[in-house]
Amino acid sequence: MIYVILGTQWGDEGKAKVIDYLARDFDYVVRFQGGANAGHTVRTGGKKIVFHLVPSGILNENVKVVIGNGVVLDVEEFLREINLIAGEIDISGRVFLSNRAHIVMPYHKILDKAKELNKSSAIGTTQRGIGPAYADKADRLGIRISDLYGDKKILRDKIAQSFEVKEYIIKNYYRLSDYPTVDSMTEELLGFRDTLKPFVAYTEKILQEANAQRKNILFEGAQASLLDLDFGTYPYVTSSTTIAAGALSGSGIGASSFANILGITKAYTTRVGEGPFPTELDDERGGCLRNLGQEFGATTGRPRRCGWFDAVSVRYSIGVGGVMELFLTKLDVLDELEKISVCTGYKKKDGSVINYFPSTIEELNEIEPVYTEIEGWKEKTYGIRDFSKLPHSARRYVEFLELCLEKKISYISRGFERDEVIVR
Ligand code: GDP
Ligand code: IMO
Ligand code: MG
Repeated sequence: MIYVILGTQWGDEGKAKVIDYLARDFDYVVRFQGGANAGHTVRTGGKKIVFHLVPSGILNENVKVVIGNGVVLDVEEFLREINLIAGEIDISGRVFLSNRAHIVMPYHKILDKAKELNKSSAIGTTQRGIGPAYADKADRLGIRISDLYGDKKILRDKIAQSFEVKEYIIKNYYRLSDYPTVDSMTEELLGFRDTLKPFVAYTEKILQEANAQRKNILFEGAQASLLDLDFGTYPYVTSSTTIAAGALSGSGIGASSFANILGITKAYTTRVGEGPFPTELDDERGGCLRNLGQEFGATTGRPRRCGWFDAVSVRYSIGVGGVMELFLTKLDVLDELEKISVCTGYKKKDGSVINYFPSTIEELNEIEPVYTEIEGWKEKTYGIRDFSKLPHSARRYVEFLELCLEKKISYISRGFERDEVIVR
């Protein structure tokens, strides 16, 4: 059985909590795209752990985790997380890293940062080198994990070839002088060789065999549909395929059918970084959602932009992601509000109302959200395990979202701990 977990907004929907909650029924949890730009928070036994690269399912001791070929790997960050987790639980024989995964090199991070300093080209990236690393992959100038285990001279030549033009740009265009040499980068990578070795594998083969043995495999999406390179709010997107299709190319499992594609959606909307956000509340109501939901980036610590639930964009995400059912998170954050709004359409300048997500940021920046207002429930939902026991208005809110999205909300989370979930 293969499940895919996807975010349906701009990230930070609570994917890691859902993965941690579901992982007990799975044999493998797989990251297939993105890199250390992800910030996946799991809270267990009073502790908070933020994963950037290691799949969140690792905390379940019967689970094996895979970092697939589609991920761009920051080696230092990976080893930092591995050390952290190894201090808590036994991870031996449970972590597999694709030999085809690309490595985020120091120059990728330098270029990401330098580009972000220029206000006119800033995307508000996490500055983890993600865009430049994927650009090199597409440009066939990437350094892969398997390169560490071949001839040292070939590795050095590959780094030199990849760095040649970039060094020129770093030095002459960005006018930076603090950057490593080809030799130091080669030596640094070679220094990781032995430590990484136990994890490196043909992960596509492991997954194909597991699938043939009918093992249960859970794909852990990072980022979300509205940050997808093709379908997101381009150019304010990340540089990978975040929708379900990415799970296949980013893991090599083969063209399998998915038993479920579970879309994770927050009961309101957040976004980190630049780019259009039709339902953003840049007033005290947004600040109130930020405080109640503790909406600060798990990777960069930046305050997340907050706004009302946008049914137009989530319905679009459900379509491009092939989402089969929904997991609604953070319902409890709305507990104290008098009134709650849901965007059900976009009003254009000419007064017409559309309910499909536009392809350009220019259109998105011009539209006005059309809202339906719902009474708040003003009661605590924390601890409630049964849908019928939720306050009447909270049930109405969930049912209204289902109506707008034309999708069943099968799970509702209203607390950050693992088991704070209502199953419907
Ligand atoms: P991810 O990137 O999608 O995994 O999400 P993040 O970890 O970046 O952000 C989600 C945050 O919301 C984390 O701090 C979670 O612990 C927290 N969270 C998840 N589900 C719930 C919930 O139902 N209620 C509340 N209050 N917090 C939640
Ligand atoms: P998780 O997996 C929220 C955003 C950045 C920026 C844009 C491009 O925790 O949901 P990048 O560094 O990827 O080149 O930045 O994407 N972004 C995220 N926003 N959650 C994430 O991951 C994100 N990963 C990247 O803020 O706007
Ligand atoms: Mg996150």
